[in-house]
Amino acid sequence: MNKYTGIADYYDLLMTQGYYDYETQSDCLAELFKHGKSVLELGVGTGLLAEKLIQKLPDLEFVGMDFTPAMLKQARERLGESVNLVEQNVISMELEKTFDTIFSNGGVWYFIENSEDEYIFCSHLPNIGDNLNGLRRVASHLKKFGELIFSVQGVHRDYEQTLPQGLTYAQKITQLPDDCFDKCYIFSREGEVLNEQICKYRLFDEEEIRSILRDIGLEFKEITSCRQYHVYHKVCELS
Ligand SMILES: C[S@@+](CC[C@H](N)C(=O)[O-])C[C@H]1O[C@@H](n2cnc3c(N)ncnc32)[C@H](O)[C@@H]1O
Repeated sequence: MNKYTGIADYYDLLMTQGYYDYETQSDCLAELFKHGKSVLELGVGTGLLAEKLIQKLPDLEFVGMDFTPAMLKQARERLGESVNLVEQNVISMELEKTFDTIFSNGGVWYFIENSEDEYIFCSHLPNIGDNLNGLRRVASHLKKFGELIFSVQGVHRDYEQTLPQGLTYAQKITQLPDDCFDKCYIFSREGEVLNEQICKYRLFDEEEIRSILRDIGLEFKEITSCRQYHVYHKVCELS
């Protein structure tokens, strides 16, 4: 069972209490996608961002991908039957379609803003080979000059927060060797732990990830004016 299955039951409660600002993020993405594009979301989760994006751009040709059935089940309930959702792992993704834009909003990959203008790339895939395979699979699903977009979020830290329905969420970060860290998600009620998951992540410094992306034909283009997303674009096909 993958680690996100256990989190799925509590995911929406946590995310809608300020973990992500979906309103601002969807405004920013809607501005980028306003010219009617085909778009793939990597790690669509329960579809919270997708829902707002599709509301703002109903003509968008949207596909949501995720490898956790419990997350996709909620996305299906939220988004309805007409939205294209696929269960795949990015490491071996094969969709038989190319896209104008592929984006990851905390799903699989994202940037962490360390301080102003200093970013670290963060991956849900702790293994370097899996990252290379996944990014290659993504590049092969982009049209020429298509864009790959990563969200930006704050530094991971330990904290505890009260959620609706009498729940408490706590997260604990443990630094590991080789640029990895564990993030422990704990959901409890009245002191009783209902769910506890540890997910391992890998960090890459910005120059390292730019070089990895360059090697697969993706060049850095810009940080959006809303500062929420980093944009890369496909300048050549892989040989
Ligand atoms: C933090 S959630 C982000 C969900 C959504 N993008 C949002 O903004 O709410 C990360 C999602 O990425 C998915 N994910 C992680 N690794 C993945 C992989 N290797 N392939 C496909 N999906 C993956 C998880 O199942 C989870 O649903």
